[in-house]
Amino acid sequence: MTRIAHLSDLHFGAHEPALIDALCDAVEAAEPDLVVISGDLAQRGTCGQFSKARALLDCLPGPQLCVPGNHDLPHWNPVLRFTDGYRRFRRVTQGPTEPVWRNDTTALAGINTAHRMHWKRGEIDPGQIEHLRRGFDNAGDRLCIAVMHHPLEHAALNVDALMVGAGRLLAALPGMGARIVLSGHVHVSYIGPFTDAPEVLFVQNGTSLSTRRRGEDNLFLTLDTGPDCVTITRHVADGARFVPHRPERWSFAPGGWQLDEARMGQSRSATG
Ligand SMILES: [Fe+2]
Ligand SMILES: [Fe+2]
Repeated sequence: MTRIAHLSDLHFGAHEPALIDALCDAVEAAEPDLVVISGDLAQRGTCGQFSKARALLDCLPGPQLCVPGNHDLPHWNPVLRFTDGYRRFRRVTQGPTEPVWRNDTTALAGINTAHRMHWKRGEIDPGQIEHLRRGFDNAGDRLCIAVMHHPLEHAALNVDALMVGAGRLLAALPGMGARIVLSGHVHVSYIGPFTDAPEVLFVQNGTSLSTRRRGEDNLFLTLDTGPDCVTITRHVADGARFVPHRPERWSFAPGGWQLDEARMGQSRSATG
């Protein structure tokens, strides 16, 4: 089993300061093998906001895999945004914008969907699909997980047009062996098979620290992965701590992902 702690949309600069220590404590207590952050570490991509994000990364356990979100581009510096818009992100995360990671049971590959020309809507180009394909090459029995900021499908909330290239990537994911997609951006969580690719599980996180909530409290997820199953737990802010809610166990079967019958009552619905 591999345990992944999935955080998203921290939005330092428009965040809940009282939750920072609670988030660190709860993630550390979960003892994850990997911490994933699916973008929007900062609110406006400023150095000051990224230094706060760095302080959080320093207190979270490692290893860590981070991809950028649209808010991580430097909002007040258009020259930097178009010449090297992800420089501050790379410096604070101390890694690439499209990282890969694997252990004996799980393989992850991230892509940067915060395109510098379509940063709010997001965009995927064919080279990024190839990057994911290479990330899952020779994965064997490992569970393959793609990580990106923008969602590939409308689910809990329809706030923006889907990013450019979303349909093309979703169509390609099953063929490259991807079983799960972790994303964020809309600040509402959702778990369920993709409508147009039910063999891929859509795990959309809410916001872990932002003050801009959309009817759902701040939260992070843990995923306990097996070869053909995953147990997902929402850890939801309650006062000054994060409280684990009832886990959902999903199994991969011919035809797609299925929620275990015993927990069908929590099926597919967004929380909050
Ligand atoms: Fe966000
Ligand atoms: Fe975003």
